[in-house]
Amino acid sequence: MIELTAIIDSAQDAFAGAITPAELENAKALFLGKSGRITELMKGMAALSVDEKKSRGAAINFAKQSIEAALNSRRQALADLELQAQLRAEALDVTLPGRQRGQGGLHPVSLTLERIESIFASMGFDVAQGPEIESDWFNFTALNTPEDHPARSMHDTFYVEGGSKTAPNLLRTHTSPMQIRYAVKHVKKYSNVVNAGEGQSLFSGEMPEIRVIAPGRTYRVDSDATHSPMFHQCEGLWVGENVSFKDLKFVFTDFCRTFFENDDLVLRFRPSFFPFTEPSAEIDIQFPSGPLAGRWLEVAGSGQVHPNVIRNMGLDPEKYIGFAFGMGPDRLTMLRYGVNDLRLFFDGDIRFLSQFQ
Ligand code: DAH
Repeated sequence: MIELTAIIDSAQDAFAGAITPAELENAKALFLGKSGRITELMKGMAALSVDEKKSRGAAINFAKQSIEAALNSRRQALADLELQAQLRAEALDVTLPGRQRGQGGLHPVSLTLERIESIFASMGFDVAQGPEIESDWFNFTALNTPEDHPARSMHDTFYVEGGSKTAPNLLRTHTSPMQIRYAVKHVKKYSNVVNAGEGQSLFSGEMPEIRVIAPGRTYRVDSDATHSPMFHQCEGLWVGENVSFKDLKFVFTDFCRTFFENDDLVLRFRPSFFPFTEPSAEIDIQFPSGPLAGRWLEVAGSGQVHPNVIRNMGLDPEKYIGFAFGMGPDRLTMLRYGVNDLRLFFDGDIRFLSQFQ
């Protein structure tokens, strides 16, 4: 009997030590299999007397049942463990927030450009787009900046390979070439002038006024907290028979006050030099209150369009006159939102950009 108790104990130990169903079945074979220990004991009974068989048989049966019970409970335990592991692996937290489609938004500079366009559109300005790879002629020469003119050194130009003086050979350093491009196209609609510019006949007939803004990307070899090799400009041009510096002051003042939603904004037209305007002025603004109050902040260059530029538009400067300006939408965006490093706009950091939505 002691022997049987020992077999039951060792079966229980073996089953407890089995940690997979396969190990458990192997352990079962050691006790209940064809040559398992219980089976061997049964075989040994053949030689016993009838009485001995009865008592011995009952004891072996009891041991066998105990072992089977231990086996079944271990099987159940292993099945439970497996189920739990599976449940853990497939766990689904229904309280997690759903996955959302990321919402995009316009870049702060795009918001500014849209704002500029709608303000000028309300004053009757057309909006024009032009090439960023420009020719020497449109970027400089037609704008009264001949090849050896020192004003060219005001712009640190990116040149591209394979261009020529008249074919695109540089990245435009400003949006001013759009003055010429747009005006030439406009003039052609109302005149027979085929090639505006040097030696060509100039248009002095009737035509609707030229009133346009040209926003877009511009490029210069420059990079620090307030300069980026790629930046934005927005050109403005108004040419007609009777357009004066007074109109420039009115239009630009109205624009700035609308843009910054501040009717007390003060503007200053500070004498300056640009080859394509005469006289020329830089435009500074001053906020009456807020963190920037009291400081003059430069926002644009401007002036009365130079007669040579009017001529390169194909127009007779004796008849046509107007003003132009070029402003920096990046700077306007910085002022409007209180951003002090231009590079933030072009780093593409979503944490910065998402604040403008
Ligand atoms: N193109 C000039 C620049 O990039 C800005 C400018 C000045 C534009 C005067 C104009 C203007 O149209 O009249 O610095």
